[in-house]
Amino acid sequence: MYSAKMPDGFLWGGAVAAHQLEGAWNVDGKGMSIADVMTVGSATKPREITDGVIEGKNYPNHSAIDFYHHYKEDIKLMAEMGFKAFRTSIAWTRIFPNGDDKEPNEAGLKFYDDLFATCHHYGIEPVVTLSHFEIPFNLVKKYNGFTNRKLIDFFVRFATVCFKRYKDSVKYWMTFNEIDNQSAYNEDFLMATNSGIILNNLSEKEKEAAMYQAAHYELVASALAVKVGHKINPDFEIGCMINYSPVRPLTSSSADVLLADKFEQRRSWFSDVHVFGEYPKEVEAYINRNGYRSDITDEDRIVLKEGTVDYVGFSYYQTTTVSAKNVEPDKLNDLSKAVAKNPTLERSDWGWEIDPEGLRIALNHLTDRYHKPLFIVENGLGAYDKVEADGSIHDDYRVDYLRKHISEMEKAVEIDGVDLMGYLPWGPIDLVSAGTGQMDKRYGFIYVAKNDAGEGDLSRSRKDSFDWYKKVIKTNGLDL
Ligand code: BG6
Repeated sequence: MYSAKMPDGFLWGGAVAAHQLEGAWNVDGKGMSIADVMTVGSATKPREITDGVIEGKNYPNHSAIDFYHHYKEDIKLMAEMGFKAFRTSIAWTRIFPNGDDKEPNEAGLKFYDDLFATCHHYGIEPVVTLSHFEIPFNLVKKYNGFTNRKLIDFFVRFATVCFKRYKDSVKYWMTFNEIDNQSAYNEDFLMATNSGIILNNLSEKEKEAAMYQAAHYELVASALAVKVGHKINPDFEIGCMINYSPVRPLTSSSADVLLADKFEQRRSWFSDVHVFGEYPKEVEAYINRNGYRSDITDEDRIVLKEGTVDYVGFSYYQTTTVSAKNVEPDKLNDLSKAVAKNPTLERSDWGWEIDPEGLRIALNHLTDRYHKPLFIVENGLGAYDKVEADGSIHDDYRVDYLRKHISEMEKAVEIDGVDLMGYLPWGPIDLVSAGTGQMDKRYGFIYVAKNDAGEGDLSRSRKDSFDWYKKVIKTNGLDL
């Protein structure tokens, strides 16, 4: 297996999001977020998004793994693995419980003071996402989320408060998590988590229109935040965050190849705007042809140019294969319609295709496209774990997955010359799955005793992968 030492200062660590592990959903002044109205689902049953919290339903994010009260113990375990960085989000509703409040909630701000101080105590650099699928529910109900221009101000106010408060404790930031997920705009879950939009009975055209307008406001909000952040601390590194999945045609037919290109254009325009400060030609033409994004001002265009990001953060889980048998290239709208099964790849228990070489391809594509430092801020395998009678967990499948991906990452850095800031695999400690709300879909090196039904004493223990990852970090990637 290929391996190489990563450059000095390489940020090894892990990534989580507030709503998926903190719990304490209504403690110390925290408001209700979109994640708080999502029920538990399964590999085959989608999560339900309810109209507020309904008694008797199971909302897994309400208590999650209670990181809010266990963070000291959890960060200590991550320090034991040698983490150099820890990515989390700041729950918007801990700081602005309703999203449109005038003043922030001091107890929420204090929690993150303490969390970041704990990280620094162990020499761990916090990496912070501002908006990770946890928009205040009040903004969803009152304004229909990011379909409303007012959301720009609310987001920028939230970002400014965070930048000022954590000016000296956080250097690495990201604005919107996986902003490009909403390109599959027929998915209620993706529109709700990305943009706080409840689709109800909208027609397909109306959904697509809502997505282009909302994403535009998010991009303007992100650009304004980048500008403000750099004023508050010029040393801040503020990135975007996309769910990058290199696209390939199912066959070598021109129709499949053109469809793959169209797919890439329709998915990558979010990060194109983040990085270049302007819309790419193909998407601008598509938007104009369809009459979408009616509200874009000259000032917006200037802001987009002035607030470009410092780096490209991305998650990598799988590649995407497309077939023109599913949709003709010129009829491509909702991207999910084009997707075909790749017959050459294995899948996880949740049907996610496993393609380690795809990570090297992703790193090369993004480097060629953006010429910016890259940061892998998510990667990993969701799997069922078995606890043995003596409490041990032999998760060799997880080690195998991560080892192969890290090896490909190291080729990209060492052989292809990719400028990579770090590697933060998803869920170093078991947490609530965003997609299904399950606890039993596990990514962690650290096991948490809690299952889908919410049973368990929340005790933490080390899986076999814990010691393996510790060794990888200790040797700076050489010993896989
Ligand atoms: C990413 C998200 O899409 O994938 C995370 O940024 C999420 O929030 C992760 O948890 C894994 O997905 P899932 O559905 O297995 O939790």
